[in-house]
Amino acid sequence: MTVLITGGTGTTGSRVAAALRGRDVAVRIASRRPAAGQVHFEWTDPATHAAALDGVRAVYLVAPVGVADPAPIVAPFLDEARERGVRRVVLLSSSAVPEGAPGLGELHRMVCASAPEPTVLRPSWFMQNFLGDHPHAYSARTEGEIVTATGSGRVAFVDAGDIAAVAAQALSGGEPHVGEYVLTGPEALSYAEVAAVLTEVTGHPVGHRAVEVEELTARLVAAGYPSDFSAMLAGLDADVARGVEDRTTSAVQDVTGRPPRSLREVVGDAHLSAGVAR
Ligand SMILES: NC(=O)c1ccc[n+]([C@@H]2O[C@H](COP(=O)([O-])OP(=O)(O)OC[C@H]3O[C@@H](n4cnc5c(N)ncnc54)[C@H](OP(=O)(O)O)[C@@H]3O)[C@@H](O)[C@H]2O)c1
Repeated sequence: MTVLITGGTGTTGSRVAAALRGRDVAVRIASRRPAAGQVHFEWTDPATHAAALDGVRAVYLVAPVGVADPAPIVAPFLDEARERGVRRVVLLSSSAVPEGAPGLGELHRMVCASAPEPTVLRPSWFMQNFLGDHPHAYSARTEGEIVTATGSGRVAFVDAGDIAAVAAQALSGGEPHVGEYVLTGPEALSYAEVAAVLTEVTGHPVGHRAVEVEELTARLVAAGYPSDFSAMLAGLDADVARGVEDRTTSAVQDVTGRPPRSLREVVGDAHLSAGVAR
């Protein structure tokens, strides 16, 4: 069985590929700029979908990033996948977006109606947002602060590696995992508490600055995000401030048989191995 990994060069997709290879499953990585061995894939160009889906039985689906309404763009791909006999589709959605809500929530509904064995992953915010090139990581490194509109609201940040472990099981395990899984890390933390962990692990002082939703939207637009997408992201921070992400689930443990990793472990490992959490 070959598994197609859309977003295969990204944060979760690259980890899904590694997890599947670790299980001796054949993977095909889709990219707009494919390296050797990868397949050319562009969500907005259905002509690239057929070759990507050739001989595929399962798909990891990362919607086009930065698009407020991805469902119409993904619909022709799901039609082609169904016609070609793809059984399992594992959609990466978000804990912040319930089935049927605008954006990823519409895609959630569409995947469940289209694929014979649909799994929808609804992870909380990623721990990797504090590593590498993510804006939080960048501002922590360069300005010594993380800026959010979350107030003192808590988030049960989850490791992208744990999301990938769940996805790999759903894509290639003996039994399908039909349904939705809200994925969290082991504890809910405020952004001030995250900043304290980053400070402790890296030795570089980091603080948290709480701003209003309007100011955050303006910052995101200034950083180059489309205005509708920026407003949507800033609105999610307001939801965090209201406490909607202040909970943990047992889904990672239930599916993988091991507990989710903590922020301290994930940031500590990255800091030690590559210095990316400087
Ligand atoms: N960050 C968080 O805290 C968080 C929390 C919950 C849910 N999410 C969800 O996670 C998703 C992002 O997942 P991720 O972080 O794993 O991805 P990512 O690192 O942002 O990478 C996105 C991938 O999508 C590919 N891509 C982008 N536009 C494309 C297009 N038009 N056609 C084909 N491929 C395209 C890119 O590949 P190429 O450049 O190689 O083409 C890239 O590998 C979003 O839907 C977000 O809502 C994020």
